[in-house]
Amino acid sequence: MATVLLTGGAGYIGSHTLVEMINAGYDCVVLDNFSNSSPESLKRVAQICGKEFPWYTCDIRDEETMDQIFCNHEIDAVIHFAGLKAVGESVEKPELYFDNNVNGTNVLLKVMQKHNCKKFVFSSSATVYGEPERLPLDETCRLHTTNPYGETKLQIENNLKTVYQKDNDWKVVILRYFNPVGAHESGLIGESPNGIPNNLTPYISQVAQGLLPYLRVFGNDYPTPDGTGIRDYIHVVDLAKGHLCALEKTADTGLFIYNLGTGTGYSVFDVLHAYEKACGKVIPYKILPRRAGDIAEMYASCKKANEELGWYAKLTLDDMCKDLFNWQSKNPYGYGEEK
Ligand code: NAD
Ligand code: WQD
Repeated sequence: MATVLLTGGAGYIGSHTLVEMINAGYDCVVLDNFSNSSPESLKRVAQICGKEFPWYTCDIRDEETMDQIFCNHEIDAVIHFAGLKAVGESVEKPELYFDNNVNGTNVLLKVMQKHNCKKFVFSSSATVYGEPERLPLDETCRLHTTNPYGETKLQIENNLKTVYQKDNDWKVVILRYFNPVGAHESGLIGESPNGIPNNLTPYISQVAQGLLPYLRVFGNDYPTPDGTGIRDYIHVVDLAKGHLCALEKTADTGLFIYNLGTGTGYSVFDVLHAYEKACGKVIPYKILPRRAGDIAEMYASCKKANEELGWYAKLTLDDMCKDLFNWQSKNPYGYGEEK
């Protein structure tokens, strides 16, 4: 079985993908600088899978250490999760985001090229579509970023196109994730945000846990059925499985782009009520003004991933909430300590 390097493998999506990869029989190597994660997630993955795997504390911008990792292991393919992802922080620190995400990816690609490793799966984002040109969003829709984080994802996509144009031996799969939520059904791994969460579902789960007083609903005057924003939430385990299909696709030379979502949009209130059902509690909320930069509605067309990868999202919004509640209940402070 092939050896696969997961950069950012200790993070939320990386750790869930690692479980699916190990269970599918891949030999996995992880690198992470733990800037937004903890080695605890890797210990939990080993516990779930009953198998140890090599991992390195390494920054993707550190060419020398990355080179050493490629010398230590015969790596066939890379799944590249490592990156900073907080939209608000990217507006405050755009240089950091370009250095970490864009420059970091360039260093990784250079080391891969040197070691003749040319299979690459990249974590892009639906954020590259910006304000949707039409719905559902398909891979041919106009690309238009609205913040530095999104711009880093678009620049990396464009750099990958250049890499492939220069050397047609590369096999590149770009995955545009919609809104990943939920946790592994074991409750051992999940999303562990630092400080107050930015995203909807970790915020809701912390309110239900009693860690935050109420949900702030950012706007109820959007042109949507209940006035709140609509997104395509996808269970992180479905998303993780999409990476196995993407990896199989790297048998073909070329550059391929796929949306990974469910194709269904849910409003903030839909999610709130589904979580209330999962946890058996009423969750307090207050309506606040719209959050700057938010759009009304987005959801994916996943036809291309269905047809070309044979991948389908199977888990429901109720599954997402049930598994998030299980993770939150068992790990009220994520991988961290009570603050
Ligand atoms: P995460 O922060 O949990 O995981 C990213 C991991 O990368 C972390 O473990 C972090 O420590 C590591 N990392 C960051 N910079 C690094 C560097 N320079 N060198 C080595 N490691 C580094 O985030 P996630 O939600 O698991 O996201 C994974 C990828 O998917 C990211 O690239 C993110 O931009 C992308 N993405 C995430 C979402 C989402 O909503 N979670 C949506 C679309 C795309
Ligand atoms: C979802 C909905 C909010 C929090 C962001 C990034 C995107 C991607 C995923 C990486 C919206 C509403 C939220 C809250 C709320 N990340 N909301 N109260 O904004 O779709 O996407 O994360 O690529 O790039 O922009 O996700 O979970 O923040 O918001 O009412 O406390 O919930 O207004 O309608 P978003 P989100």
